[in-house]
Amino acid sequence: AILVSRRVKSRRKWNRMVGVLGEFEEGCSTSIGRLRQVVDAMDVEMHAGLASEGGSKLKMLLTFIDNLPNGNEKGNYYVLDLGGTNFRILRLQLGDERSMILRHDVEQPIPPAFMTSTSEDLFDFIASSLEQFVEREANSSDLPLVKRRELGFTFSFPVKQTSVSSGILIKWTKGFSIEDMVGKDVAECLQQAMIKRGLDMRVAALVNDTVGTLALGHYHDEDTVAAVIIGTGTNACYVERTDAIIKCQGLLTNSGGMVVNMEWGNFWSSHLPRTSYDVDLDTDSPNPNDQARGFEKMISGMYLGDIVRRVILSMSHELDILGMLLLVIGTLYLENLCGPVVNYRIWKLDDPYELHSSASLFHRKWRTPLMAVMHEDDSPDLREVARILKDTLKIPDVPLKVRKLIVKVCDVVTRRAARLAAAGIVGILKKIGRDGSSGIMSGRTKNGGESSGKMRRTVVAIEGGLYVRYSMFREYLNEAVAEILGEEIAPHVILRVSEDGSGIGAALLAASHSSPSVDSVS
Ligand code: GLC
Repeated sequence: AILVSRRVKSRRKWNRMVGVLGEFEEGCSTSIGRLRQVVDAMDVEMHAGLASEGGSKLKMLLTFIDNLPNGNEKGNYYVLDLGGTNFRILRLQLGDERSMILRHDVEQPIPPAFMTSTSEDLFDFIASSLEQFVEREANSSDLPLVKRRELGFTFSFPVKQTSVSSGILIKWTKGFSIEDMVGKDVAECLQQAMIKRGLDMRVAALVNDTVGTLALGHYHDEDTVAAVIIGTGTNACYVERTDAIIKCQGLLTNSGGMVVNMEWGNFWSSHLPRTSYDVDLDTDSPNPNDQARGFEKMISGMYLGDIVRRVILSMSHELDILGMLLLVIGTLYLENLCGPVVNYRIWKLDDPYELHSSASLFHRKWRTPLMAVMHEDDSPDLREVARILKDTLKIPDVPLKVRKLIVKVCDVVTRRAARLAAAGIVGILKKIGRDGSSGIMSGRTKNGGESSGKMRRTVVAIEGGLYVRYSMFREYLNEAVAEILGEEIAPHVILRVSEDGSGIGAALLAASHSSPSVDSVS
């Protein structure tokens, strides 16, 4: 009778644990109706952000880029790409007819100490890496010499641009926190550090990674009108008509348009499906505030793994008492059912969220790439999940039943993220009259959309590890975009990976915004 009663109790606890998951799943609901509300909210916030400075959580930052690369860019250019845990230096040779040769490419991690020290330390470190790059190059005889080194600087944080090649840091995101840098001209800091090292280089273009991605997308396909990054952080940019940028009256460009960096990581709407786990994550993050960067915290790679950890931790709470019983009685039955999950809670999942630590941008072990591998494990016994739990998270012998729950948590978190990003993309299309909702098919247009009665081909360039390397994420996103747009419009909208756009795109923009005299000597 005692055993039967324990069995009933353990089943009840198991059911409660499954109940926690069910509740979470419900809280993450992204029904088509809700997604449409998010689309509309994005459109409304875009209008508000363009109407006045501070009029919306969307900053809608001007980039001063009014012409995107078209294939005529020529010459040798350097790129410095700084935006996450690593930074890259590239050198590209651009030729006629969209030919480009990647001459040299170095990627290295930014020592964590520099992410939270002073601007001088960070830029001195970067300039010294550039110096080494140029020195190595000088010793390599097969590279053409350049008269003057022009640099595209990809700086993937919110910047208030003052020209194509200068801009002031508004605030840090993604775990960086160098206080003295906020309010300073980013390009100028780099320029000074280069001068100090005797490096003859000039920042020809200062760009956000979304803008680089748009540039590369447009270089390959001129129907590209917007770009999205879904990686450590998330953001989007698009081409806006200058007369729609009301906060900057009288803005004139040759093309009549300008690329706008939305900084959509900061987007917030009451229609976003926010759970108690999101609220807790926000509270523990270095930039807590009700809704601060709410969209980014539900979508990007910096946070998804930690949401998964929080949900599993909460589920494991339901097993605590059972765990104590296990320790005392140690019956085989109970051990098989949930013993390891108890250890799980006690030793692994209670580790504090480590966003505050400069050494890691998100929880040290519950990283999103691991989550992707677990989620995509299609072996019947979830072998990969078991391996990761054992080898990386040091939790051996997790029963299959529990492994299945873990995969389910990953699925709920990823699906919500991908579908929200999809709604954001359609929000942009709606703003520029490319979602079919303003009567394009019947010849009526809004916001300068087509009036020919035919839907125009529209390409959105996408970059970032979540979309490029996480196939479940990609599938969920593509599916949701098609679902929101409907079968008549969806075939006209193409989501195209623009890999390396943040780097190569910056070289293209440096080329289109520098004097012709910078072409290579040889
Ligand atoms: C963060 C940054 C933004 C960047 C994005 C993707 O949201 O604030 O500027 O584009 O990450 O890297």
